[in-house]
Amino acid sequence: MLNQTKLIARIEEHLKKDLTANRFAHVLSVRDQARNLAKRYNMDSKKVELAALLHDSLKEFSDCELLKFAKKHDFLIDEYEQDNISLIHGKLAPFFAKNQFGIDDEIVNSAMRKHTTGASKMGPVDKVLFVADFCEPLRQYSEAETVRNLAERDLEAASFEVIKHKIRKNLSKNRIIHPESFNAYNTMAQSFH
Ligand SMILES: [Fe+2]
Ligand SMILES: [Fe+2]
Repeated sequence: MLNQTKLIARIEEHLKKDLTANRFAHVLSVRDQARNLAKRYNMDSKKVELAALLHDSLKEFSDCELLKFAKKHDFLIDEYEQDNISLIHGKLAPFFAKNQFGIDDEIVNSAMRKHTTGASKMGPVDKVLFVADFCEPLRQYSEAETVRNLAERDLEAASFEVIKHKIRKNLSKNRIIHPESFNAYNTMAQSFH
C-alpha cells in the first residue's frame, strides 16, 4: 500500500474523474464528517477516511454495470438486492478498493459493505460511516442536523436514529426493506430498552 497521503491523493483524483460533481462533494463531506467523529471517539481515522472516501465509488454505476461487476467478482445477489440493485454498490466497493488501490482491510471493507442497509453486527467504524453518510452537512433533509448534533454526544443513539429514518422512509415509499436493516434495528433497539 502507498503511504496514506499519496494514497488519499490518488483516490481523490480517481473519484473526481469517476463521480458527478455533487457525488464527489458528498464523498468529501462524508470524509470530513467521519474524520471528526473518529477524532471525537478516539478511533483509527486512517481506516475511517479510506472507508468514507470509497463507500460510494460505484454509486454512478448503472444497474447493468453493477450486475456485470458483481458477476465478475462472483458476488451473489440476494432476492432483496435483486429488487433494488443499487443496494449492492456498498457491498461491491471492497472489490473496487482492492483492484484500484490495493486496499484490503476488513474494518474498511465492513464499513463500506454496511453503509447502506446497516447490519446486525456493527462496529465503531461501521457506525461512524453509517452516521456520517446520513448526516454530512450537504444533506438537505431536516433529520441530518438532528443526527449530526446527536452524533457529537452519542454515536449509538445517532446510529439508532439513522436506521429508524431509513426504515421509515422505505415504508413510506412502499419500498422493500432489506432484512439486514431490520437486523440492525433489532440489535440497536435491544440496547435502548
Ligand atoms: Fe452509498
Ligand atoms: Fe454516500
